[in-house]
Amino acid sequence: MKSMSPLDRLVVALDVPSANEAVALADSLSGAVGVLKVGLELFCAEGPDIVRRIQKYAPVFLDLKLHDIPTTVKRAMSAVLDLDPLLINIHALGGLDMMKAASETIKAHRQSGGRTRLLAVTILTSMDSAALEQLNIAGEPSEAALRLALLAKRAGCDGVVCSARESAMTRAECGDDFLLLTPGIRPLGAETQDQVRVVTPSEAVKSGSNWIVVGRPITRAPDPAAAAKAILSEMAGAEGT
Ligand code: C5P
Repeated sequence: MKSMSPLDRLVVALDVPSANEAVALADSLSGAVGVLKVGLELFCAEGPDIVRRIQKYAPVFLDLKLHDIPTTVKRAMSAVLDLDPLLINIHALGGLDMMKAASETIKAHRQSGGRTRLLAVTILTSMDSAALEQLNIAGEPSEAALRLALLAKRAGCDGVVCSARESAMTRAECGDDFLLLTPGIRPLGAETQDQVRVVTPSEAVKSGSNWIVVGRPITRAPDPAAAAKAILSEMAGAEGT
């Protein structure tokens, strides 16, 4: 992966219910964020067209977290790859064969000129030790996340979505080329809302995250572009740029 600027690294979560709100936000953030994240709420409400409409402002991370039998994931992925998002994701808990089916689909897309990278979600940050125990998943969330990151790498995924608190360990185990995208980011002084274990943008970059995902601290700020630019400055400070 070429070296990334703070702008390249900043992903904003467009967690809004309608296309009009998403387009207005994308427009106001143009030039202040590197990637626009379209999640399930927006995609289910508005369909693929919302991706086409906002791609003129910045590349898109299609955060659909696919999880199904390998053939279904492969076919669903083929359908959305026509949009050529920058990033797309699946659940690592779908297993090795499902992840292999997804990564083969992405590789074929890239061979025909596409740019999309495939990330696997390891353990959702909303799941704690008790939730893993209910599912008979062994170990602490961070141990399970690392096992799944290594499995995702073996399956040919380009990287994982993980907690920034797991970035350094995942980077050490999975290597420099493995891509890490981390949500749960809060600038110093920002409200944590429902995120429990938050990390600042500069801490996330220092611990090896390629991309940081920020939602409400930007989208609910009185001036979203100014909030995004403050985060870019904080990251630039961390990188000494
Ligand atoms: O508003 P906030 O910055 O908390 O938004 C974070 C975004 O990252 C949301 O879209 C949320 O769904 C997503 N996310 C997360 N934790 C994960 C995976 C995704 O917060 N483990």
